[in-house]
Amino acid sequence: MIRVYFATIFCTVCCVLSLSAQGQTNVSLKKVLPFPIGAAVNAKYLKNNVAYRQLLLAQYNCITTENEMKFKAIHPSKGVYNWINADYIVDFGVKNNLRVHGHTLIWHGSLPLWISKFQGDSVELEAIMKDHIRTVVSRYKNRVASWDVVNEAFNDNGSYKKTIWYKILGPDYIARAFKYAHEADPNAILFFNENANEASPLKRNAVLKLMKKLMARNIPIHGLGMQMHTRLAQPNSGITTAIKTAAATGLQVHLSELDIRIRPYAYSDSTDKAQALKYKFIVTQYNALVPKKQQFGITTWNITDNDSWLNKSKSKPEWPLLFDKNYKPKKAFNAIINSF
Ligand code: G3I
Repeated sequence: MIRVYFATIFCTVCCVLSLSAQGQTNVSLKKVLPFPIGAAVNAKYLKNNVAYRQLLLAQYNCITTENEMKFKAIHPSKGVYNWINADYIVDFGVKNNLRVHGHTLIWHGSLPLWISKFQGDSVELEAIMKDHIRTVVSRYKNRVASWDVVNEAFNDNGSYKKTIWYKILGPDYIARAFKYAHEADPNAILFFNENANEASPLKRNAVLKLMKKLMARNIPIHGLGMQMHTRLAQPNSGITTAIKTAAATGLQVHLSELDIRIRPYAYSDSTDKAQALKYKFIVTQYNALVPKKQQFGITTWNITDNDSWLNKSKSKPEWPLLFDKNYKPKKAFNAIINSF
């Protein structure tokens, strides 16, 4: 009896040690977190990188298209749609039971020349916007669960960005974009997505004011995405206020593009630890401050430090995500897992 007792304890200790030796790769974000957890993905890695695919499927239950649904990628010239990569990601998501989030219908970034250099009038551009939204959303009806309908409409000082959409269509292009998306798929959850909510109170207030206005007009908007491309140096108070005020709108709240930059600090054991604490803070604040029924989830902007948009320049490396360049979990991953 005593022998069995000690054998059980021995096995348990071995098991725990082996889990931590593997960096807890047997532990999974999607099993531990009480809300959906996603990653932005790109078709190139999904198709060619087995480790990337396996890590995604082991850890996450949602995906966002990082680039493949942007205007430039999916609608490169007038009347020409290129579905190959977006279809690949959506099919992959549906097949693997991942919730798919579409990014993004109307943005000023990643525009093809025929839109960025558009010379026509508002009637023509409105028709283009409507056709674009309807064509893309209808194609993925009931397969893409949610959309970033309008992305990054404000400057940090709270004024509207003078994008091609704003300049030709006026500020109400935002409301109309939501209507067109809703007409194309009435079941889709529609988000306004913005960056720097945690860093810029003026922008945050402008976004919140717009959300209230759109809701008061019964515009079909269901969620507020806060990108949360943040940094070690960002004070926690801004993060808390951003999450609290977003929750107060009553909308679904999505931390939609989370990553945490180490620079301008150097990468070291202590900045790695500080990043882990910051991740833990953000994820636990989200869970504590956003009511359950508004928790759309958290999405990191890709999966490993190797795949991050912040690592495109080899001369200025970054370490922004939960998994390192060798696809192993970092301290940030363990800090999140251990908080739940
Ligand atoms: O795929 C082409 C490749 O064929 C070509 O050789 C190469 C040459 O520059 O470009 C490659 O495309 C790049 C693409 O990323 C894929 O790596 C584009 O140039 C580059 O502009 C594009 O950057 C993306 C950026 O948005 C602009 O669309 C980033 O990956 C993507 O992470 C970033 O994501 C944005 C969100 O959409 C909105 N919020 C901010 C976030 C970070 O900037």
